[in-house]
Amino acid sequence: MHTKHHIQELQSQTESLLHKVGKQKTDVADLPQLRQVLRFHEHRYYIMNDPLITDFEYDQLYKSLEKIEADFPKYVTADSPTQRVGKGLTKEFPTVQHLVPMLSLENSYDEDDLVDWDRKAKELTGLTEIEYCIEPKFDGASISLIYEDDFLTRGATRGDGVQGDDITVNIRQIRSIPLSAKFSESGIQQIEIRGEVLINKQTFKKYNEQRLADNLPPLANPRNAASGSLRMVDPKEVAKRGLEAFLYHVSDVTEIPGKKLTKLLDTHSGSLQLLWEAGFRSPVKESMVVKGIQSVIAHCRDYEKMRDELPYEIDGMVIKVNDFELQDKMGMTTHHPRWAIAFKFKARQGTSKLKDVEFQVGRVGSITPVAKIEPVYIGGVTVTSVSLFNEDVIKEKDLMIGDTVLVERAGDVIPYIVRSQAELRTGKEKPIRFPTHCPVCKSELHKPEGESAWRCINPNCEAQVVERLIHFVSKDAMDIRNFGEANIRKFYEMKLLENIPGIYHLDFEKISTLEGFGQKSIDKLKEAVETSKHQTLNRLIYALGIRYVGETTAKTLANSIKNLWDLEKFTVEELMSMEDIGPKVAGSIYEFFQTKEIIDMLKKLEATGVEFSNKKRADNAADTLHGQTFLFTGTLNKLKRSDAEEMVELHGGKLVTGVSSKLNYLVVGEDAGSKLEKAKKINTVRILSEDEFIQMISDKS
Ligand code: IVH
Repeated sequence: MHTKHHIQELQSQTESLLHKVGKQKTDVADLPQLRQVLRFHEHRYYIMNDPLITDFEYDQLYKSLEKIEADFPKYVTADSPTQRVGKGLTKEFPTVQHLVPMLSLENSYDEDDLVDWDRKAKELTGLTEIEYCIEPKFDGASISLIYEDDFLTRGATRGDGVQGDDITVNIRQIRSIPLSAKFSESGIQQIEIRGEVLINKQTFKKYNEQRLADNLPPLANPRNAASGSLRMVDPKEVAKRGLEAFLYHVSDVTEIPGKKLTKLLDTHSGSLQLLWEAGFRSPVKESMVVKGIQSVIAHCRDYEKMRDELPYEIDGMVIKVNDFELQDKMGMTTHHPRWAIAFKFKARQGTSKLKDVEFQVGRVGSITPVAKIEPVYIGGVTVTSVSLFNEDVIKEKDLMIGDTVLVERAGDVIPYIVRSQAELRTGKEKPIRFPTHCPVCKSELHKPEGESAWRCINPNCEAQVVERLIHFVSKDAMDIRNFGEANIRKFYEMKLLENIPGIYHLDFEKISTLEGFGQKSIDKLKEAVETSKHQTLNRLIYALGIRYVGETTAKTLANSIKNLWDLEKFTVEELMSMEDIGPKVAGSIYEFFQTKEIIDMLKKLEATGVEFSNKKRADNAADTLHGQTFLFTGTLNKLKRSDAEEMVELHGGKLVTGVSSKLNYLVVGEDAGSKLEKAKKINTVRILSEDEFIQMISDKS
């Protein structure tokens, strides 16, 4: 989209604007340049994945634009980078008509299906060999966009294919969708484009972790998360979801009279190129043009092998006749175009029988129903039990014991029940009865207004105590190795361990008499327990298992204090002034530190020697790597990857996920691959060995 010369010019404009912003000298005359520069950097970041400035620099430019526009509202343009941010809530999404119906695709599942389809295509076109364009079948929510006179004027959901919902306000939140694009240069007055909105796997995983910490059922898969996000009433919330979009189809074009229409619109691959050059993320790199169906089959098989390595979900490939003239000749049915077909990858679904439902008590007392199903093999794993999350999910899916159920397991997503097949019921199925009393301590269950989970509110409930212990020692919390769930249960049953401080008073003599505990494993356990006394404060906070406090919130809290006891002093308002802490989370933290039993427990814990102070903050080492970005690649020999990453964060550095000019340090372990190669080509990235990294950290501490 940008030539080398163009990039240099925009970079030098960026520098001079940053200089001016630093001196607070930008003014209304800088508006066009500020917008142009910000759009350029958004494109580098969201489309190219190769930013040229830091987030901080971007924010400075953005804030400057915002300020000038606030002073001179009449100069605000519809495609200004500030105009993505929605105002207020959407009451309803108006129904709109698609310019061209959004058809489905015909599906194929094996090579024979593809060979058949190719034969029909050859018959319809009269050719002996056809050129195809193959691209991934993105597993998200489909959208249609309209640009008129270069401006985004409408974004809609697919709906029933003929009519969809106008979700323009939410579409504007997606940073990889440009608010304006220079279609007029290609002779286009109006264009309708189709594509797919996605949430990448990493973002989805983090989002679900937060939902679990908030006691909400996780969303089933990234597809549901994407389509749900598109229909949210608050555009600001949409912006936070980290949505991405691939645009893969031009469905309608109105030409500018008297102007020549671009040749790129002669083929499908050309149209992808046109979209890419106009600033969209289209699957240019992800697609391939081949001749003949055998090459198609080979490419589809190769791509399927990479499925799990992609950052987003795909559920197959789409094969399209590349030449638009041929596409027109082949036409369409009422359901799908004849010039395209989807090749679906092997299903990650299976059917099974729901045998029983068990009710488990979590560490904050939430009761989770878990379905026990007949073993079913899906995507390389045998699934025998599936969480049903809460009572509402059971009702919503109309589940009964004895039902035949459809189970899905996508990538690293936890397995879930898609639906029951009510049509196969015999009349012998039994309803699932939710207990009224805790299955472990028998105390009465409660369900607070507005919440979906029933809870056992007895803090001494044995199930909760054990779950709290398991959480405390777990890998992401205090990371006490060699402890494990089974040992905790065993120690608890034998009364060798009753509460968290007890972990630091274990009677190793007694443990050594138990079966399976040799001197070696005892020594290891002792050492792990001892080491954990110096674990970082954010991990300790997370390990305490405060309701709604996940890893991210624990980090926020740890970064704001010098000692764990500081949390006892915060008011709800003070807690709410911290990043991303709302009233629910603040209330829970406050309540935790006002509970006498908990304070007593914490005093005992501190007395065992567990470090409560934020060492790094206290001795002011925290910010020595401020503003520096790090990435680790290959196998580290001396450090655990997660520990090394934590060291960076403790010193105020930032971790990034990819090699780009935004990366300052690439730390290279053994067998480093493509990241190292890429970094070598960017001369601003410094490459460190593991030893050099350790040296650097110890110099900075
Ligand atoms: S082309 C007229 N290309 O799959 C043909 N569709 O199962 C328009 N999809 O509704 C569709 N990736 O939402 C096309 N590369 C791709 C796609 C794709 C995903 C979706 C699309 C469509 C559905 C049909």
